[in-house]
Amino acid sequence: MKKIFSGIQPSGTLTLGNYLGAMRQFVQLQEDNHCYFCIVDQHAITVPQDPKQLRENSRSLAALYIASGLDPEKVTLFIQSEVPAHTELGWMLQSITYMGELERMTQFKDKSEGRDAVSSALFTYPALMAADILLYQTDIVPVGEDQTQHLELTRTVAERFNNRFGNVFVIPEIKIPEVGARIMSLQEPTKKMSKSDENTKSFISMLDTPKQMEKKIKSAVTDSDGIVKFDKENKPGVSNLMTIYASCTGKTLEEIEAEFEGKGYGDFKGAVANAVVDTLEPIQARYHELINSEELDKILNNGANKAAHFANRTLTKAKKKMGILRK
Ligand code: TYM
Repeated sequence: MKKIFSGIQPSGTLTLGNYLGAMRQFVQLQEDNHCYFCIVDQHAITVPQDPKQLRENSRSLAALYIASGLDPEKVTLFIQSEVPAHTELGWMLQSITYMGELERMTQFKDKSEGRDAVSSALFTYPALMAADILLYQTDIVPVGEDQTQHLELTRTVAERFNNRFGNVFVIPEIKIPEVGARIMSLQEPTKKMSKSDENTKSFISMLDTPKQMEKKIKSAVTDSDGIVKFDKENKPGVSNLMTIYASCTGKTLEEIEAEFEGKGYGDFKGAVANAVVDTLEPIQARYHELINSEELDKILNNGANKAAHFANRTLTKAKKKMGILRK
């Protein structure tokens, strides 16, 4: 069995992009792998968060993981801050991660742009992400395309540690879905769909009502051609809706082009909206059953214990190699 690790920040309600790019892969992978999935609250605090909201978002994310189809008997689901090994190893890895490497991270550039004050934690964020992954001797990290650069840095840092101090870490591989690796904003289709976008019309939240989803898709930016054709360069809006439709229905891009030949964007958008609602509605129903349940707390307590057990073994090995334990 391969080891799988991935994390999502509880920094807002998840979007359709998070679901199609990341979460849906997790559900498929749980069948024949050893999976760890994490609510990375320590990453979320690298930008300002309202404490009450953050606590609620973490719980909501846990419920969404399960509602999306993760089976707590098969996977270990936990909150990052409840396993202190993450921040400990994160600090140790910061000591072998270089400023120049961190300065090149595009997520840091994007997230720090336009802010008056940028926290040092936002800058060193990738070292913590490397720690998340390396603690579990992870073979495969399923993520959306935007995490590629962080994954490359994780591999570099793991190799550096192993070469300098002796073999401790498995070097992880990235896994990106064939369709849906980068879902774009509905309003600015050359930008990625993001839960922190100020314009709420630009993203579908996993908890939007069917009416809201329909409205947002109907008002998605397209073009004036009136032809449903996949062309990312010249028709980014239509191409994005086609990707969403393909991802929700399993149809190929060619099948979709044929389905809407001679039809206008009105029909097409209606079909996309139905497909999105059909995908998210069953998840929402399960979510509402779980969100206030004790079952959810039990799952998270159990997950934190299981994760800590494994993570502490790797942490002790790494500490010994670095010379920061007495024996
Ligand atoms: P985060 O919280 O921004 O996003 C969670 C996951 O969703 C994917 N994703 C998308 N996929 C397709 N289209 C989109 N528009 C889209 N937006 C987001 C992301 O690629 C990600 O897989 N740094 C990570 C969290 C993290 C992590 C980790 C991930 C911390 N430690 C260890 C993997 C392993 C992040 O900010 O994801």
